[in-house]
Amino acid sequence: MGSSSPWKTGPSNSPESQQKRATEGTRDGSRAETDSQTFGIAPSDLSLTELLRLAHDGIIVANIDGMIQFWNRGAEEMYGWSAAEACGNLAAEFLRTEFPQRRAEVTKKLFELGAWQGELVQRMRDGRRIAVASRQVLRRDEEGKPSGILEINRDITFQKEAQISLQRLSVRLLQLQDEERRRIARELHDSTGQSLAALVIHLSAINGRIGTLDPTSAEILCEAMKLSQQASDEIRTLSYLLHPPTLDLAGLTSALKWLVDGFMQRSKLQVELEISTDLGRLHQNLETALFRIVQESLTNIFRHSGSPTATIRLSRSDGNVNLEVSDRGSGIPPNTLATLNGTGGELGVGIRGMRERVRQLGGNLELISGSEGTTVTVRLPIGDQAQSPASHSPGAAST
Ligand SMILES: Nc1ncnc2c1ncn2[C@@H]1O[C@H](COP(=O)(O)OP(=O)(O)O)[C@@H](O)[C@H]1O
Ligand SMILES: [Mg+2]
Repeated sequence: MGSSSPWKTGPSNSPESQQKRATEGTRDGSRAETDSQTFGIAPSDLSLTELLRLAHDGIIVANIDGMIQFWNRGAEEMYGWSAAEACGNLAAEFLRTEFPQRRAEVTKKLFELGAWQGELVQRMRDGRRIAVASRQVLRRDEEGKPSGILEINRDITFQKEAQISLQRLSVRLLQLQDEERRRIARELHDSTGQSLAALVIHLSAINGRIGTLDPTSAEILCEAMKLSQQASDEIRTLSYLLHPPTLDLAGLTSALKWLVDGFMQRSKLQVELEISTDLGRLHQNLETALFRIVQESLTNIFRHSGSPTATIRLSRSDGNVNLEVSDRGSGIPPNTLATLNGTGGELGVGIRGMRERVRQLGGNLELISGSEGTTVTVRLPIGDQAQSPASHSPGAAST
């Protein structure tokens, strides 16, 4: 990973080093004795201690105040502190733990439910930060009173780094895709579109003198006029589909009306479009994302669902914009749906691209599908991103 990485670098968290740890041998008896004493386990129960000690995860046992009492070999390797150095310290302070929510809430959940799990950021001995998947369990004494905390931590820095760089890459790819679509739309409209418009005008001028032409030439002229007009219309539609100028100029509502009208004509599907009147203008990123999601959803309905109808609902509430696109088709095959709701696997980029756009904007996307049809629901926070039309940059040139 690059030097800008927020995490530690080096081999200790790589899969190779994890493999190395896995193949390392057992330890000497004197150490086991120390561990069993600190953990408060009778020497006769050494097998359990031995297991905890040899586990590759970092295992920490703390008393009810959070003071470290047991620190296994996995923890030594993960954090760089020996058991002797770690024991007696307050765990969260010692490891400078950053919690995903307020620490008091984590503690409350742990004591109420008896367990907590989540991701933490902690510091190694040399100050480097590591990402950790943590599972914490409340230990109880014979009377059922809380007596300590068992914490099992796994170093996921390597996976986190890979995830962050993948996300950076997909953000960049979607940006490039949008920029490229805008550029091609503008080129098509401004050069090919203008040349075709000029051709239509020239042919119309000849048509004004059609009386001077022989019948065969007149017939060819009529055909040429029809074809050039058709090509001009097609280029215009293609350019608008790549990036509708109305999206920047008049906003999402008008761009969606245009999209749906054209889609109904081309697909023969019946589409209902409901947009709440208070929607107004949104930030350019939000409008582009929502337009692309509707566009992709309609294409999916046409290509995959077999549904004769589709419904699009768009509204705003509680600082969010909510979009729902549904059909009454055959539904997404269960295996495909499971993959789409998981990591995305090797499937097409359409739904994955939608999810990525939504994730970038801090929202969430839900995909529900069955024999009654499919519904894509998106919620995006508007934040302080709502903008006046003047702040929207111009897209492809208007007609
Ligand atoms: N509305 C829908 N109805 C039925 N199946 C769908 C629908 N939308 C998506 N799918 C299924 O989900 C798969 C993934 O969709 P997507 O990510 O858009 O990729 P692509 O459209 O390129 O195949 C499709 O191949 C199809 O099997
Ligand atoms: Mg698709």
